[in-house]
Amino acid sequence: MSTAPNVAVSDSDLKLLQTLVYQECGMYFDERRVHFLQDRLRRRLSATSIESFYSYYRLLTSREGKQELAALLENLTVNETSFFRNKPQLELFRKNILEDLLARKQARRDWTLRCWSAGCSTGQEPYTMAMQIADALAYYYLRNPLPFEMPAAKPLIPPPWRVEILASDISYSALRMAQEGSYNDVQMEPVDHTFRLRYFDKTGDKYTIKRGVKELVHFDFHNLKTEFMPQRNDIIFCRNVMIYFDEAEQKRLVEKFYRCLTAEGFLFVGHAESLFGLSDKFKMIHQNNGTAYQRIEVQP
Ligand SMILES: C[S@@+](CC[C@H](N)C(=O)[O-])C[C@H]1O[C@@H](n2cnc3c(N)ncnc32)[C@H](O)[C@@H]1O
Repeated sequence: MSTAPNVAVSDSDLKLLQTLVYQECGMYFDERRVHFLQDRLRRRLSATSIESFYSYYRLLTSREGKQELAALLENLTVNETSFFRNKPQLELFRKNILEDLLARKQARRDWTLRCWSAGCSTGQEPYTMAMQIADALAYYYLRNPLPFEMPAAKPLIPPPWRVEILASDISYSALRMAQEGSYNDVQMEPVDHTFRLRYFDKTGDKYTIKRGVKELVHFDFHNLKTEFMPQRNDIIFCRNVMIYFDEAEQKRLVEKFYRCLTAEGFLFVGHAESLFGLSDKFKMIHQNNGTAYQRIEVQP
């Protein structure tokens, strides 16, 4: 089997790489996806002008090779995403789950809502969350008295509420685009007119997310394979990420999510993903084709 011109790569070389990638980020390239791994390896071999797989592997596993390892992983990720992806699930999020969470929190005088978009790609998911939360809060206080006086210049998030959305990924280039928050017509297709008007500025042929929305989202590098997880999340979106992991890694990840959610917090996974067979520590909520999972509290 050959990859870049003059570089021979055997099946056992690919196995070695497959194991390294799995250990580093949880992505598992089985027989069906091994061609993709081979293709991306070929690209990195020619980009680095390294002439043997062995030398490349040695670089990847050395201290000096950290940057190349990041570049390889970046090449292996699938960054497909969109605004308002999986609408029925987002309806469940905004109309039911946020409504319930806001009421529960207000009763406890807890004014912080902490969310995490794990595997946020180019930012459409966390910005969608931010827009949905701003709308849910506005709608909630149309029907309920505000606990404090609203300042004259109406802020996006009514005080004393504080909304923090952490958005993380292992792809630096995706994170850079997300941070920029500028989207073209094709990317904006799922965003309807009212959302465009309220939450975007149009400059030339680009739509840029408004500063107020951007300020709700903090982007950072985070590898879901690590044990370190951001704590005390009320809501986690990890959609269309686990699909690239094997079952053992999915189980480990769901267990970590359980531990970093607040009591009765919510986990959202992708349309083709489910916690079935992975964990019995979550209750499934399914309504009008939208699904979410709520952390079950163990009675002492
Ligand atoms: C298909 S995109 C999904 C984006 C978004 N969540 C959505 O559903 O539209 C998968 C993202 O997961 C990221 N990813 C893959 N492995 C990861 C890991 N170990 N840690 C963090 N992010 C990871 C990829 O870089 C990619 O941006």
